[in-house]
Amino acid sequence: MAAKVGLFFGSTTGNTRKVAKLIKSRFDDATMSEPVRITKASPEDLLAYDYLILGTPTLGDGQLPGQSADCDENWEEALERLGDVSLAGKTVALFGLGDQATYPDAFVDALADLHEFVTAHGARVVGAWPADGYDFSDSRALQGDSFVGLALDQDNQADLTEERVDAWLKSIAGEMGLPS
Ligand SMILES: Cc1cc2nc3c(=O)[nH]c(=O)nc-3n(C[C@H](O)[C@H](O)[C@H](O)COP(=O)(O)O)c2cc1C
Repeated sequence: MAAKVGLFFGSTTGNTRKVAKLIKSRFDDATMSEPVRITKASPEDLLAYDYLILGTPTLGDGQLPGQSADCDENWEEALERLGDVSLAGKTVALFGLGDQATYPDAFVDALADLHEFVTAHGARVVGAWPADGYDFSDSRALQGDSFVGLALDQDNQADLTEERVDAWLKSIAGEMGLPS
């Protein structure tokens, strides 16, 4: 039987991939898929799951990979492939990698783009994450005092990643059907 939760990511230098692997390491194969690179995923691959965890770095000037910078890990293209697909009935949790010291005005902005896409297509998004403990000036991914998904910074706060991931997974366990 296929896993309950599908885990998809894009990654240029490997940071988001590493976090995806960390997330997967917490669950068995019946619960969560192996992390799949979004460039290798078809729309059907994503649509096979009622629960999705999607991860992206922010690149360019606060953008999803593919919106400006030339790179292989093209989330933008993947969303275009998904087109006007319905995500109604799906529950989605998002995580985003960024660098708050170098890009304090656009910290994890790409989370906002993924959030906009999946909500516009009918998905329910869970896993908002408090913005305490970060040092940045602006982020499109903020809604009130929280990010729309888990914000991680491997460039400046790598030592906090594991505990943030575990706390976040615990916080979404009930809504994502994960063992807690
Ligand atoms: C060209 C470039 C542009 C970036 N732009 C942003 C940005 O606008 N906002 C941000 O939070 N991080 C930005 N970053 C930082 C990356 O998101 C961060 O290093 C991330 O961990 C990379 O993940 P990856 O290795 O999975 O691609 C940028 C990095 C690069 C190389």
